Amino acid sequence: MTDDAVFQRFMERYASGDIPWDDGLPPPEVVALATRLPPGRALDLGCGYGRTAIFLAQHGWQVDGVDFVPLAVAEAQNRARQAGVADRVHFHQASVTALGFLPGHYQLAVDVGCLHALDGTAQRAYRDELHRLLEPGAAYLLFARLVEEVSLAEGAPGGEGAPGGEGAPGGEGPRGMAEAAIGPLFADGFVLEKSAIGLTHVGEKSWKSGWFWFTRG
Ligand SMILES: C[S@@+](CC[C@H](N)C(=O)[O-])C[C@H]1O[C@@H](n2cnc3c(N)ncnc32)[C@H](O)[C@@H]1O
Repeated sequence: MTDDAVFQRFMERYASGDIPWDDGLPPPEVVALATRLPPGRALDLGCGYGRTAIFLAQHGWQVDGVDFVPLAVAEAQNRARQAGVADRVHFHQASVTALGFLPGHYQLAVDVGCLHALDGTAQRAYRDELHRLLEPGAAYLLFARLVEEVSLAEGAPGGEGAPGGEGAPGGEGPRGMAEAAIGPLFADGFVLEKSAIGLTHVGEKSWKSGWFWFTRG
């Protein structure tokens, strides 16, 4: 599936309301990290309806959320207004691979279910943007759907699984990224502090997934 096809698939999912990751709160891993760190500036990559960004804003963070689906960004803005944090969180319709419009100096970045949807070239662009945008010592928390073998060289895109999410764009079977690809992708400039591999259950489906806690070196 091409990048354009992935984009179209996400567009269709938002248009049809097929959004199983839509939940009031971010996952507990995000809540724990966001409430442990002193508030600063944070980035929510592939923010969807903004559950992470809004939670962070409610806890004192100044947040930028990025998603390439206009419907997602519009609803995230609505929800931020309803939550009374519109002045603390700004949503941008853009690709997470091209973030030149953001000035940087973030102390935290969170990605729940976006990176694994990118092909290899896009993942490297994302990684480079993240490195530019995060301060040294900043935290980066990643949740990804995992598969046993995906060749980044072949540019295989991943699915959009997340806690509360399911399925793969295009209905081509389970997608994600190989756990073994995550270390090399972030080897330069990031330190992997901890990871937790498990199963994510959505309805009758289960798939391998992982949380990865990085520090920007
Ligand atoms: C599984 S959803 C999770 C949404 C949100 N992080 C959450 O936890 O509610 C993944 C999101 O990543 C977005 N996304 C995927 N690829 C993207 C890209 N290249 N640039 C920006 N957003 C992207 C999708 O539109 C979708 O909203």
